Amino acid sequence: LGAALIALIIGYLFGTIPTGLLLGRAFGLGDIRKIGSGNIGATNALRTGNKLMAFLTLLGDALKGTLPVLIAWRFGVLPAAAAGLGAFLGHLFPVWLGFKGGKGVATYLGVLLGFAPWGFVVFAVSWLLVAFVTRYSSLAALTATVIVPLFFLLMGQREAALLAALLTILVFLRHKTNISRLLNGAEGKIGAKG
Ligand code: G3P
Repeated sequence: LGAALIALIIGYLFGTIPTGLLLGRAFGLGDIRKIGSGNIGATNALRTGNKLMAFLTLLGDALKGTLPVLIAWRFGVLPAAAAGLGAFLGHLFPVWLGFKGGKGVATYLGVLLGFAPWGFVVFAVSWLLVAFVTRYSSLAALTATVIVPLFFLLMGQREAALLAALLTILVFLRHKTNISRLLNGAEGKIGAKG
């Protein structure tokens, strides 16, 4: 249990790295919290019009979930799950930004890559399908995060199902405004400038 606690804390610290914010500044695009949805994630980074910056945000936010999980694996499944949960919480509630972080989609994806790679594939395919058809990043994420824990349940991967279900609940709570915009037909489509 001690290892799991340490993994949770180290994961958290990884998660708090605000990739989108740092890259936005590094690319001379300013504070991405001042545009579009105000979120620090890749979807909002894309609203700057800089695709490379958005892609690097996605990559960085995903890797900060993958790395701590891979490091923690050598101590067992519980530390690995704790590291993933920590990274996710760090992204959502970073101490450096007054606990106002992102929505967790890319980090969820990265945690899956480290913890249960088939879940990563299922997530990515579901996300891409819904995003391709609807052009809504949030709807794609909400759909993918419902499918993934169900997939793990079906496969009998109980630890992964539990971890994923926990992350999914947090993703939904973080997408409250997106959900109401989707219901009102007011949600911004992928790549539309904010
Ligand atoms: O990845 C976050 C996405 O689901 C929604 O982002 O900026 O449109 O609120 P945003």
